Amino acid sequence: MSKYQFTESDIYLPGTDIPHNHLGIETPDLLREVEGALLQQAYTRFITELSPASRFDEEYFKALHRDTYESLYEWAGLYRSMDMSKGGSLFCRAAYIEQESNRIFRELEQEQFLKQAENWPSDQFAERLAHYQSELIALHPFYELNGRITRLFFDLIAIYNGYEPIDYSQALAEGSSGLNTYIEASILCVQKADSSKLQQIIQQGLQRA
Ligand SMILES: Nc1ncnc2c1ncn2[C@@H]1O[C@H](COP(=O)(O)OP(=O)(O)OP(=O)(O)O)[C@@H](O)[C@H]1O
Ligand SMILES: [Mg+2]
Repeated sequence: MSKYQFTESDIYLPGTDIPHNHLGIETPDLLREVEGALLQQAYTRFITELSPASRFDEEYFKALHRDTYESLYEWAGLYRSMDMSKGGSLFCRAAYIEQESNRIFRELEQEQFLKQAENWPSDQFAERLAHYQSELIALHPFYELNGRITRLFFDLIAIYNGYEPIDYSQALAEGSSGLNTYIEASILCVQKADSSKLQQIIQQGLQRA
C-alpha cells in the first residue's frame, strides 16, 4: 500500500543517507548509477514529447519526478511532509510547500511558461530562468533528487525555445572549498532570495541549438 506521509526513517536506510528503494540497493555508487541511467532515459523521453501544447506547469513538474523515479522510489512525484535543511539552509517549511508551489507555477503561467523566449536575448531568458529556478531551489519540494529534476525542468524549457540543455558542468564541478558554485548559488537563493549568481551560471551554460 502506498502512503503519502513519510518520515526520515521511512525514506532512508537506518543511519545512512541512502534512500530505501525498490531494487534493494544499499551502496551509494550503484544507486547513483541507477539514478543517472533513469535520468538519462527521462531526458530522451521528455525531450521527444515536447510539443507546442506543452505546459510547464506544476503537474508537469511533479510528473517529471514521478515518471523518472517511480520504478525506484515509493515517494516519486510526491511532495515531502517533513521540514528539510542542508548545510544551514532551511528550505520551505513542509506545511507551506503546496501554497508556495501553487504561487510559483501561477506566476510562471502568467509568463506563458516562458514559451515565447525563442526570440529574446539570451541574457533576458537567463534572468527569468534563474528567477524561477531560484524559487524551486528554495522550495525543495521532494525528499530527494530536487537538483536533478529542477535542472531537467528548466532544460526542457530551454530546449523548447531552441536551446541546448543548459550546461552546468563547470558549476557542478567540485571547487577547492568543497562547495561547487551551483551550491554557492543555491545558498544565495535559499538564504537571501538572490538569484544573481545562479543567473551567471545559467547565462554561461545557455547555448542555442
Ligand atoms: N547548503 C545548501 N543551501 C541551499 N541549497 C542547497 C544546499 N545544498 C544543496 N542545495 C540545493 O539542493 C539541491 C540538492 O537537492 P537534492 O539532494 O534533493 O537533489 P539532487 O538531485 O541529489 O541534487 P544535486 O544533483 O544537485 O546534488 C542542490 O542542487 C541545490 O540546489
Ligand atoms: Mg542529493
